[in-house]
Amino acid sequence: MNDRLGLLADPAVRGALSRELGWPIEHHAAIPSTQERGRALADAGTSRALVVADEQSAGHGRHGRPWQAPRGSSLLASWVFRPLVADPASFALLAGVAVARALASLGVADAQVKWPNDVQLRGHKVAGVLADAVTAEDGGALVLGIGVNVHQTREQLTELRDIATSLAAEGLAVDRLALLARLCIELERIASSATERRAALEEWRARSATLGREVEVRPPTGAPLRGIARAVADDGALVVDTASGPRHVLAGEVSLVR
Ligand code: BTN
Repeated sequence: MNDRLGLLADPAVRGALSRELGWPIEHHAAIPSTQERGRALADAGTSRALVVADEQSAGHGRHGRPWQAPRGSSLLASWVFRPLVADPASFALLAGVAVARALASLGVADAQVKWPNDVQLRGHKVAGVLADAVTAEDGGALVLGIGVNVHQTREQLTELRDIATSLAAEGLAVDRLALLARLCIELERIASSATERRAALEEWRARSATLGREVEVRPPTGAPLRGIARAVADDGALVVDTASGPRHVLAGEVSLVR
């Protein structure tokens, strides 16, 4: 597969694409974490930035879990949105729809979303989204990080084979540069208006791998709860019908029971 992401190392290419996409791009062959770099830029007052890396030495996901990807295997990127997007809490959820739409535009149909921020192919995680709000007197910023497993072979997925996949492992050849460009377009679209966000939330519901299923939810604090995932509310919360009534879950990890 002819992957063109490495072209971003060329300042002329990077400059041209930055202008075309409307995102000043920083490209790193290797960096601890695009998300931490994005946060540092946001803390320093940067208004918009897109940080992309071919390899991360300290990539992380939600709840501080490590996010590991062999060099050149994944799309690893963080966007700094300043001013802060509207409804930042549900933006991370809707970013999953942006990933699914970007994949669809490149011929990868049927991506599903799993609450809160995962994108799946055939029941296995192919992408994750991480959102960090940075507070500041000017209203602050949102740093949105996305990792997409693109070129990992089945062998490289060994440890995670039961829960994760990659586009290549599903027999799908995708160029990371094209995926990055499509993601910029789809994220902008969702950030652009309340109407677009409502449409994206409807699409989240239609693409959901969670709704209607029996789930166990482990909130960041407190006891896990079990029930049927009935709905996703307009604020992005998962509504779970438990034996003791409906519960509105704003954060946590979900596993499908059956
Ligand atoms: C998750 O599923 O827990 C979210 C994973 C987010 C990973 C991406 S990779 C690019 C960016 N840099 C990081 O360190 N994390 C995010």
